[in-house]
Amino acid sequence: GVLQVSTNEGNKLKEMESPFRANLLKGKVALVTGGGSGIGFEISVQLGKHGASVAIMGRRKHVLDSAVDVLRSHGIPAIGLEGDVRREDDAARTVESTFKHFGRLDILVNAAAGNFLVPAQDLSPNGFRTVIDIDSIGTFIMCHEAFKYLKKGGLGKDPSTGGTIINITATLHYGATWYQIHASAAKAAIDSITRSLALEWGEDHGILVNGIAPGAIEDTAGVSKLAPEEVLSKIKEKPLYTFGEKWDVAMAALYLSSDAGKFVNGAVLVVDGGQWLSTPRL
Ligand code: HXC
Repeated sequence: GVLQVSTNEGNKLKEMESPFRANLLKGKVALVTGGGSGIGFEISVQLGKHGASVAIMGRRKHVLDSAVDVLRSHGIPAIGLEGDVRREDDAARTVESTFKHFGRLDILVNAAAGNFLVPAQDLSPNGFRTVIDIDSIGTFIMCHEAFKYLKKGGLGKDPSTGGTIINITATLHYGATWYQIHASAAKAAIDSITRSLALEWGEDHGILVNGIAPGAIEDTAGVSKLAPEEVLSKIKEKPLYTFGEKWDVAMAALYLSSDAGKFVNGAVLVVDGGQWLSTPRL
């Protein structure tokens, strides 16, 4: 069976000291898809705590509302924008609203994703398509709509500073992963999109495009929905192969979106404690 992790206490902030300075992203504006919960929310918190203003995009208004409340309670300038990354009009409206509200856009984090466990023979083509639509096409749509704001000399930008895109991916497709043919294909496409955009938009437009591939991260939908119990108990036996924390992924996002990562382009940073190297894999 699938382990139900019951520790997701909504968007409670876990205080953990940051190794980065508090004004790391001062003056920057970030848009985080899937920013209302899970890894996307933690990234939003950490970008905000390090000086960025944050717009979060998601489909569920009540999730966005409570996430924005938490962000604001920490003094982070934040707005929630309802929308589905699969819809071009939603994407266009969201980046435009972010720009109108904050006056610029510097960082786009594509964290929205869909997934479920299903044997390939039981997955309908529409189920396969749905996950490709959310993860891969949604990522492309958001990048495409954000381009005119992120490029050097783009809307709200001076000619010397370009923006940054971070695509949240996975390690599912490095080998193959049971019952996730759809998500594995979708994340493989995301990694390819990351490299193509890094090539085309890095050199010519000053936009850095990178990926972060989290492993099993505690208190996320990914783990509660997807990790079979026998794999989880295996992970817990071996000290290195423990769960990561959302914080670990957010620190990687800070590195990539700050000047620390200014020469990193087209990379996928795996944040999994080396777990994918081992067998059996998640
Ligand atoms: C089989 C399913 C299914 C399931 C949906 N479908 N859920 N098939 N098993 N559990 C099929 C449907 O039957 C339908 O096909 C098609 O998918 C579309 O379904 P809808 O419900 O209309 O789609 P929609 O509501 O748009 O999206 C459904 C969803 C999404 C993809 C399940 O809501 C979702 O995933 N939300 C949760 C987000 C989430 O879990 N995020 C964490 C991702 S973790 P038919 O043929 O019937 O029309 C991750 C990282 C993995 O990505 C790495 C972990 C280590």
